[in-house]
Amino acid sequence: MQKIVLLNWKSNKNIIEAEYWVNNFPKDLLLKRSDIKLAIAPPYPFISQMKRLIDHQQLPISLAVQDISAYGPGAYTGEISAKNLEFLGVEIAIIGHSERRRLFHENSQTVADKVQRAIEAELDVVLCLDETDFPEQAKLLTSTEKAQLSIAYEPVAAIGSGQAVKPSLVKEFFGKLRQEFSQNPLIYGGSVNANNINDFLAISDGVLVSSAALELADFANLIQAIAD
Ligand code: PGA
Repeated sequence: MQKIVLLNWKSNKNIIEAEYWVNNFPKDLLLKRSDIKLAIAPPYPFISQMKRLIDHQQLPISLAVQDISAYGPGAYTGEISAKNLEFLGVEIAIIGHSERRRLFHENSQTVADKVQRAIEAELDVVLCLDETDFPEQAKLLTSTEKAQLSIAYEPVAAIGSGQAVKPSLVKEFFGKLRQEFSQNPLIYGGSVNANNINDFLAISDGVLVSSAALELADFANLIQAIAD
């Protein structure tokens, strides 16, 4: 089965930098790696242009979004609903990232509503959580929803800090997750880089990466570091 490398650009880059990234993407590096599924979550305004460039150059990149509205289409100023994403070629929605939970006060109910919206829109959901979020979050999801998710374990202290959690501890938490998510793909995110990516891919179904793949050269190092 393919392992996912999901890049989250967060609120970085302007359109020129985003286009540069895609136009100079090391396609050959990735085409050799049929065992890796690469997905990128750019800032919303770049989605259409990125899709055009990806299609034009036939790049092996799936598009993801970093968030989705808990509401449907309608009078929700500033929100991006699942409806808005139709026909844009988005496959994956990251939901419940700790930055959304902590900086934008999303609680587990809001996150559960977002999961529901994304699943209704037939998006593949990567649900982010940590030890603190896990028990309540699991309770607020239906068993049908639960069966359709990928879970990203994202320990807050590891995100953007350069201090990844030890793979043995990630494995331990995956064991706990398995009680609720018995068959789901389990992903790790938090200071994944070229030096540690193999350790995490060895014990997971994929990784979520931000800082260590924002620049193209770093991204190339990351992909090259992945063991066959
Ligand atoms: P990082 O971010 O790779 O910069 O630690 C990961 C994430 O937020 O998922």
